[in-house]
Amino acid sequence: MEPSTNPPPPGCVRCKTILMLLLVILILTGFYFYMRFGGDRALQFDDPVMHFKYGSTGGDRNMGFPYWVWKALPQVCSEFLPGKGYASLGMLFEAGQDLPVGMSLRHHLGMDRVFLNCAACHSATVRVKADAPPMLIAGMPSHQLDLMAFQKFFQRCASSAKFTPDRIIPEAQHLGAKLDLLDRYVVYPIAIHMMRDRVIALMDRLRFINTEPDWGPGRVDTFNSAKAIFNFPIERLPKEELFGASDFPAIWNQAKKRGMQLHWDGNNDRVEERNLSASFGTGATPPIIDHAAIERIEAWSATAAPPAFAQYYPVDATLSAKGAVLYQRYCADCHGASGSDFSGKLVGQVTPLTSIGTDPYRVYSYSPALMVNQGTLYAGYPQYQFTHFRKTFGYANMPLDGLWLRAPYLHNGSVPTLWALLQPSQQRPKHFYRGNDVYDPRQVGFVSSVAEQGAQRYFKYDTTVPGNGNQGHDGPAYGTALSTADKWALIEYLKTF
Ligand code: HEC
Ligand code: HEC
Repeated sequence: MEPSTNPPPPGCVRCKTILMLLLVILILTGFYFYMRFGGDRALQFDDPVMHFKYGSTGGDRNMGFPYWVWKALPQVCSEFLPGKGYASLGMLFEAGQDLPVGMSLRHHLGMDRVFLNCAACHSATVRVKADAPPMLIAGMPSHQLDLMAFQKFFQRCASSAKFTPDRIIPEAQHLGAKLDLLDRYVVYPIAIHMMRDRVIALMDRLRFINTEPDWGPGRVDTFNSAKAIFNFPIERLPKEELFGASDFPAIWNQAKKRGMQLHWDGNNDRVEERNLSASFGTGATPPIIDHAAIERIEAWSATAAPPAFAQYYPVDATLSAKGAVLYQRYCADCHGASGSDFSGKLVGQVTPLTSIGTDPYRVYSYSPALMVNQGTLYAGYPQYQFTHFRKTFGYANMPLDGLWLRAPYLHNGSVPTLWALLQPSQQRPKHFYRGNDVYDPRQVGFVSSVAEQGAQRYFKYDTTVPGNGNQGHDGPAYGTALSTADKWALIEYLKTF
């Protein structure tokens, strides 16, 4: 057959050119959108402590708030904050930093997004004198952060009529946001609606916080939050499970704590699993978690050590030596040979509630049903699956490294100072204030008798509220029957931890 000699149909040269042009436009637009919305990069920090304080563990991909919404909300919803700005929720701002300690920034979905990381709950400040500058210490319990107030702020703001692009975007622009037309009319309006829906949905899951007593600063109900995220029917849980507020712990020296049953109730003896389950608290769920970033934190916390009390205050060596003898006799089996040697025959094991006698609700809050659910998490990622959670019936005998920075004491933070902890429980303060970072080197703990200072109001902790009991860790085995002189000696020694 002869090849066709028909001329191409009229217009087709032009039509080819148009097709080519369309294709080029399509590719360019695709490239533009890819460049604009496809990027995924978090701020990186070479220094491990900076990475801990401001680095991302991946949760911001899931939960991240659009940066400019984060910036604008304290103005838009100021009536839902206890004071001025995020600082009034106990968030800490270091000089030269735009974001508070414990917040990471990631460029993702065409926007800068921010969310909490590990340091939000595991860093705080101390002032060694009332007029001294605050020192930020990474790895200590965040005794200032009021996470319940933080959650309620976002809940109330997102549910209010003000949570709209019309209110938030002008405020962001007022604060310096340079938004182009696409941002102004498409990206941010969609992001604001999505954030509103997600915050409302999440806070509906976390609805138990609306009926639970205020945690106040430095505490969170760890495992009821986990149940909420698993969408447990909270209303049907036994009431005694719902008072699990626990102090944020210190996370130094993790390498030496390998194999110990830790978390306050000792429900997990694997460092890696405790870290992974903690990431959950930062929104880092299986598919989006940044394992390399978590491993850097693991490496840092393996050997991170607390600063010594003696760097800031004198320690009486003679008195401390006398206290060391008492410590060896009464405390070392459960808490380790010293502040840096954690050997001891009961260290990292659980003392049953019947012996320790401290407030039982944190133990009740961790249930066998939750354990089963945690086992199903990461089902598609066998190497990361949780296999070491156990239901226990008591509290863990933990090392006391950096003890001076861990006040208020006990799992629920119910005892303000070491001096108070060495008193029989009826003589411990029934009410005190939490959240002050001024230190009291004599009784060893933060100043807890002051209700407010300047604009800052502290949280009145009431030990009669369920979950807040300050009883237990009481009796001759726990040092509360020692003479006053012996108690001061023991405290002098504990200052070296
Ligand atoms: C929302 C606050 C919060 C965040 C964020 C958080 N943690 Fe924690 N962390 C806690 C609380 C509370 C506990 C104690 C849990 C309990 O036993 O009730 C804890 C316990 C731990 C422990 C066990 C400490 C011990 O000795 O028992 C480690 C280790 C830890 N967290 C590491 C991390 C790491 C790593 C991250 C970031 C990936 C992180 N945490 C993020 C609140 C938090
Ligand atoms: C039988 C084991 C045991 C003995 C003995 C014991 N403790 Fe404890 N200790 C515990 C347990 C368990 C906890 C956690 C209780 C809780 O949080 O409800 C604890 C908590 C503490 C805390 C609070 C730690 C924190 O981070 O909040 C301090 C401080 C402490 N013990 C000091 C001592 C001292 C000092 C002695 C000796 C006079 C002593 N303990 C004797 C088991 C023991």
